[in-house]
Amino acid sequence: MAEEPAYDTPESTRLREALVHRLTHQATLRDPRIAAALRTVPRHAFVPDTSLEHSYQDTVVPVKYAGGEPVSTLSQPSAIVVMLEQLQLEPGMRVLEIGTGTGYNAALLAELVGPSGEVTTVDIDEDLSAGAADVLRRVGYGAVNLHMGDGFFGARYWAPFDRIELSVASESISPSWTEQMVDGGMLVGPIHVKGLQFLTPALRKHGSRLVSESVRACSFLPLRGSGAGTGTTFRLPVRPELRFVWESPDEFPAGVLTRILRHEREVRDEVPVAWAAAAYVLLTNEDVFLAESADRRVRGIMLLDRESESLASIISASDGWGTAAVVLYGGDGAHKRLAASIDAWSRRGRPGIEDLRLTAIPSPGAENLGTGEHLIRKPHFDLVAHYYTPR
Ligand SMILES: C[S@@+](CC[C@H](N)C(=O)[O-])C[C@H]1O[C@@H](n2cnc3c(N)ncnc32)[C@H](O)[C@@H]1O
Repeated sequence: MAEEPAYDTPESTRLREALVHRLTHQATLRDPRIAAALRTVPRHAFVPDTSLEHSYQDTVVPVKYAGGEPVSTLSQPSAIVVMLEQLQLEPGMRVLEIGTGTGYNAALLAELVGPSGEVTTVDIDEDLSAGAADVLRRVGYGAVNLHMGDGFFGARYWAPFDRIELSVASESISPSWTEQMVDGGMLVGPIHVKGLQFLTPALRKHGSRLVSESVRACSFLPLRGSGAGTGTTFRLPVRPELRFVWESPDEFPAGVLTRILRHEREVRDEVPVAWAAAAYVLLTNEDVFLAESADRRVRGIMLLDRESESLASIISASDGWGTAAVVLYGGDGAHKRLAASIDAWSRRGRPGIEDLRLTAIPSPGAENLGTGEHLIRKPHFDLVAHYYTPR
C-alpha cells in the first residue's frame, strides 16, 4: 500500500528487518500479516529528529513534552504488536484509533485493513494531528482520516467502527466508544483498573456489555481531556505525600484510614512477591487499593481490615514487584487476610493477568455477581473481574 519512499535506505531496511526478527524471536510477534506491516511502514519517517538506530529499537520515543513530562510518544514496537494482535484485524474493517501521536500506528492499521478498509485517528493536539497528516501523506497513507479533538467522544462522523484502539491509557470506558462500535466489534486499550495502569483488555461488544477475549499488559501515556481524572484518586492530610486509587462499591474510607495511618509503621518482612500475586490481591479483594508517591516511584497495594482497624501493604520501591516489603499499620488482622489471599493465588495455580476475564457493564448495572466475580465501580461502566484457573 505504501509508495516506495525515496528516503528509505539499505540501512533503514536492515534495521527494520532486525526489529521484526527480534520481536519474532522473543515471541511477541506471531502474526505474519503484522510482521509484513512492520516491514513495510518506515518507522523512522515518523520521528525525523531521532537517530535511525534509536527509531528501530524496541523503545518508546518521546515526541512532545509539556511541563517537563512527555505528552506524546511514539509507542514501543512490542506494545504496538501486542495490541495489533489483540485487535484481530481483517481487510475491509473500519478502525478508530484514539491517540494519533506521530501517525505510525495509524499507518500500520491502514496496512492491516487494506484499501477496502478505513482508518480514522484522533488526537487532542492540533500540532500532532497536523504533523501526522503530513507524514502519512508523504509515506503513502493519505487515505487515513485525521481528526483533531478529544478522543473520549470518539469520531462520530466516521462511525460505525469494527475496532477501536486506544493508544493512550484511559481511566474509564467512554460511552461514545461503545455507541460508535458495531455489535461484535472490539475495543482494545489500556484501562486503569484499581490503579493498575497497564491492564490491556480486548473487549468484545455484546449488546450493551463488553467482554474481554484477552488481557495483556501494555503501558501508555494517560488520556488527557474530559476522560482524564474521573474521581478515583484521593489524598489524606495524614500522609500528604501519597495518592490513593480507590475503585470500590463503597465510599473511600477516609476516617478509618486516617486513624490507622497515625499508627507507627511496622516492616514485617522483606518477601518476594510476584507482581501477578500483587495484582491478584488488588483485583479480588474488597477494601484493597493502590497507594503511590507523587513521583510514582514507591507503590503499595494496601489491604484494609475494617474490623481490626489495621492495614497491610505490599510496598514496592522500584518499578517491579520482585521484592516487596510487607508493612503493617495497627496490628495483624489485615496481614492475615493479605497472607490468605496470596495463599489462595498460589493454590489456584498462580494466575497471571492473561488468566483474567473483565466484563464491562453500563453502570450501575453489575448487581448480581457470580462466584469468584469482583466488582470494580467506574464512571459509565462497572468492571467485573474474574480469574480463570490456569491450565
Ligand atoms: C502514546 S501517544 C500515541 C502514539 C501513536 N499512536 C503513534 O503511533 O505515534 C498518545 C497520544 O494520545 C494523545 N491523546 C491524549 N489524550 C487524548 C484524547 N483525549 N483524545 C485524543 N488523543 C489524545 C496524545 O496527544 C498523544 O499523541
